[in-house]
Amino acid sequence: MNLAAQSAVADNLPCSFVIFGATGNLASNKLLPALYHLDAAARLAENLSLIAFSRRDWNTDSWREHMREVLSGKIKGPLEGPVFERFVARFRYQQGDLNDVESYRALANNLPPESACSSTVFYLAIKPAEFAAVIQNLEAVGLNKPRGLNRVVIEKPFGEDLESAQRLNRLLHQNFDEEQVYRIDHFLGKETVQNLLDFRFANTLIEPLWNRNFIDHVQITVAESIGIGGRADYYDKAGALRDMLQNHMMQLLTLVAMEPPPALEADALRDEKVKVLRSIRPISKRAVHAHAFRAQYAPGSVHDQPAVGYAQEAGVEKGSITETFVAAKFYIDNWRWRGVPFYLRTGKRLKEQQSLIALRLRHPPQQLFRETPIEKLDPNWILLSIQPRESMHMEIHVKQPGLDLSTRLLQLNASFRSGSERALDAYEALLLDLIEGDRTLFIRFDEVEWAWRVVDPILKYWAQERDFIHTYPAGSWGPEEANRLFDAEDQAWRNSL
Ligand code: BG6
Repeated sequence: MNLAAQSAVADNLPCSFVIFGATGNLASNKLLPALYHLDAAARLAENLSLIAFSRRDWNTDSWREHMREVLSGKIKGPLEGPVFERFVARFRYQQGDLNDVESYRALANNLPPESACSSTVFYLAIKPAEFAAVIQNLEAVGLNKPRGLNRVVIEKPFGEDLESAQRLNRLLHQNFDEEQVYRIDHFLGKETVQNLLDFRFANTLIEPLWNRNFIDHVQITVAESIGIGGRADYYDKAGALRDMLQNHMMQLLTLVAMEPPPALEADALRDEKVKVLRSIRPISKRAVHAHAFRAQYAPGSVHDQPAVGYAQEAGVEKGSITETFVAAKFYIDNWRWRGVPFYLRTGKRLKEQQSLIALRLRHPPQQLFRETPIEKLDPNWILLSIQPRESMHMEIHVKQPGLDLSTRLLQLNASFRSGSERALDAYEALLLDLIEGDRTLFIRFDEVEWAWRVVDPILKYWAQERDFIHTYPAGSWGPEEANRLFDAEDQAWRNSL
């Protein structure tokens, strides 16, 4: 055993990493490139072997060939040479059926013995409908042990409503200890999202403003110009509320709204996030109309290219009223945020790919400039851009140089990354944390549960109202009707920086 391997065992680092669903989209587009980049940056222990588990009748050679194809264009670095070859050589292929316990026995037989390896990661890069089979089969062949060490990674969506999430969690807990479970929400691996903590809690400048005394309202937008791709079978049942709002956007909301945790430790941070979720004012059935809005994209054009409507996408059920756009308003009834609306909005086939957290500050209490040519000043904004640029902006008023009294809006712009720094993919950060056993950026079940409690009334109400859905042309910013959520006439969606 070499030194790196010895210390891997001593540090409880896993030495096997199994990807269920290795030929699927998530593995091809996210997991494999992220693992490659970690390997290229020398962040993987030498003895870590990667096991691709899939139904296809392949062997390790054909899998390695497949990897060369799928990684083409997705990695920074050549598809040949020592770094790439070392990465490819880490892999073995395990042909198997997720529903067949014998496949898991074969997998177990091919893993190194416990004495040579402290733990194994099982990554469920598969459809949610297949989670239960994998969890039960891992237990059936003893791969849930050593308890506390072998890890199981569950992708979102965790359940499809409150009850199913609780069921899934019970199943997990029957077979694994909580510290073995890593619920992933890849938004937490994004640089700007993590930066929110620094921005808020490492600067004395910001925190005093971050409350109901100064903030008029908060907007969180995750706009996508892409459509549903080939994912109709999943998306048509999920919709934007389950796909984005219940998880990614609720996580963003908690990070914007939470109190500083006593320490930067997994549970301390998660406790604060849960407090936010618990403080969100429940939406009664009667209030759903005023708090939530849904719509679906119609044909249009995105980036000057014609785009079909959702109803025409391959695999979408005839007459489907699945929402591809959702906007919602939440109030957080605590000392910091009481009365400040949080507007959340996400949609597919919108005009631009843009994820933005925008905080509008209150108007100054005194209208000092009322009798002057300036008359009315737009309020200040703090803008945190997550994608495509990771940056921070503040809008303030300054006097226009010259004899006249006029102002101009100055935007203070700061990019979080200098031009030459490579953007880390969220999965790189999260996979490294997973391997190192750092659970800070993974989701505890009570976060999932409370987020479902928040959106469940909307889901239930919409499930009954099945005869109509608003539409918006692909390539627009969504329907005007979404503006009905605003509390005040001078509030409007902030679409760009
Ligand atoms: C996924 C959703 O979780 O996040 C997709 O299922 C969405 O519908 C994606 O497109 C957005 O993530 P990113 O990192 O591409 O912005």
